[in-house]
Amino acid sequence: MERLSVSNCLKPAKIFFKFILDFIENCRSYSFNLLNSQNIISKQYFSYISSFEAQLNSYSPFTLIFFGIFLIFIYYLIKLILNCFASIINFFINIRENIILLAVKLPSQKRKLIETKKVINEEFKKMFKKHFQKIEFYDNKQDYTKVLLKMQKNFSGDNSKIKSGKLTGSVYCVDDQIKYIAGEATKTFLYSNLLHPDIYHYTRYIESELINLGVQLFNGGKDACGLTTNGGTMSILNAVYSYVNRGRKLGIKNPEIIISITAHCAFEKACEVFGVKCIKIPLDKKTYQINLNLVEKNISKNTIMLVGSFPNFPHCLTDDIEKLSQLGLKYKIPLHVDCCLGGFLVAFYDRAGITDIPKFDFRLPGVTSISADLHKYGLCPKGISLLMFSKHEYRRNSFFIYPRWPGGVYITPGFEGSRTGALIAASFAILTSMGKEFYANNAKRLYDVVKKVKEFINNECNLIEVIGDPFICGVSFTGKYIPFFYDKLSEKGFAVNFLNSPSGIGFVFTSANVDRAEEYMKSIKEINDLLNKEKPDKEKPSDTAKLYGLSYTLPLGIATDALENYPDIILDS
Ligand SMILES: Cc1ncc(COP(=O)(O)O)c(C=O)c1O
Repeated sequence: MERLSVSNCLKPAKIFFKFILDFIENCRSYSFNLLNSQNIISKQYFSYISSFEAQLNSYSPFTLIFFGIFLIFIYYLIKLILNCFASIINFFINIRENIILLAVKLPSQKRKLIETKKVINEEFKKMFKKHFQKIEFYDNKQDYTKVLLKMQKNFSGDNSKIKSGKLTGSVYCVDDQIKYIAGEATKTFLYSNLLHPDIYHYTRYIESELINLGVQLFNGGKDACGLTTNGGTMSILNAVYSYVNRGRKLGIKNPEIIISITAHCAFEKACEVFGVKCIKIPLDKKTYQINLNLVEKNISKNTIMLVGSFPNFPHCLTDDIEKLSQLGLKYKIPLHVDCCLGGFLVAFYDRAGITDIPKFDFRLPGVTSISADLHKYGLCPKGISLLMFSKHEYRRNSFFIYPRWPGGVYITPGFEGSRTGALIAASFAILTSMGKEFYANNAKRLYDVVKKVKEFINNECNLIEVIGDPFICGVSFTGKYIPFFYDKLSEKGFAVNFLNSPSGIGFVFTSANVDRAEEYMKSIKEINDLLNKEKPDKEKPSDTAKLYGLSYTLPLGIATDALENYPDIILDS
């Protein structure tokens, strides 16, 4: 046995590396000799293993332990160096952001930031400046008819904005018959609670029927299933939760999901809640769809979920779900398709005779879950969405089961505890009363409008161009004078979406605004022509336009800080 010294301790390392090099060399010669002698590799391999063992035996256990510690030390050192390297690269990538963050530490810049925050707050306050009479909570019983009357009168103010027909998205149902059906069904089921399916048997039954209806619309197979949630965000949170749990079972401790930068913020929210790393993939420069090469490059052993939108909110564009499905299958990673926005349009395309669109649903073998909001183009009241899975195995991961609670066994299919059956009943009544043809007609009408607006902008307006090739429910455009377009459209009464990266304007068509499509196109053309006549030397956007632009150009931390008063302003009367 050799004694413990630094040079002796490093000798096993030399033997180890020599062994590896010799082994590689032998593998190489093996491939040449394979045809001549089948056994050469195994013989040589075993002879090397024995000589390696023999050499190691000549060292004391202390030397070998030291060598082990030395290897671990080297491993961590390399990791540290790589991390430092990544941070330096990251610093240079975000150099602009870092310079601003440093500059903000200067007193003059700090003051400027406080000023900006004030301007933003004032702008928010202006948005909610309507004052209503203080509401009293009396000691004694009041005349409820008067209470209701007052509330209805005040709500009519909200309704007038809706009736303008100039709002992007937001309002999906303006059909009085549907509203009546919803009201009647809601009345009956309002106090039912799906936390107690053992009491509310019929309510439970219609929930399962509503899920079946959704699964069939999205071409689920025999094992496909789903659950209802109170909206798109909750469907997405539940989907991420179920894949986090699945990942945990597979031993993934640091889960990651891969989404496009245009995927809904709810994915980011879910990542924050469940401690998941959110890898955001830039768009393909031509199609504005998720860049598939980058998706593949970012897939790792930690990836628990891929995401595609059909369509996304910002541009109303679809990702290439077929290719994402292939990637999901290739790497055995679940794929969630976010159909929250347009699900109840695209699911009726076959019936509407719209056949030239790419596949997006459970017909693709890689699609493992789909979220689709009933409370959008399903025309149901706010507070209901479907989350569907291709297999029970995936849905099971979103269940919460707690058998050891002093309050008894507690089981919920998703996050929510007590859930009213009212919205499920309303949705079921609406869908089964209105029928498929009605939804197919709605889908076709919006499809045709989108086509018309898209072609009009591209052919008639020289200063703007449509972002990508939308076809479902909305059109967005980009160009040089976006804040100007925003302000002028606002002056004409249109409440549009201000988009960033690229800077643009978005408008989502619904039954509530589709009749105004011609007026919207005319307005855009007028603004375009006005700019052709006299281009403003220097754009002077309104405070609102500036605010929307600012939130994207400021570093993330500062922008978040500047916006933090918004929830206070809307929650405090
Ligand atoms: C594509 C998409 N996903 C998810 C959501 C979130 O839905 P909700 O607002 O119902 O939570 C939206 C909302 O507009 C959406 O457009």
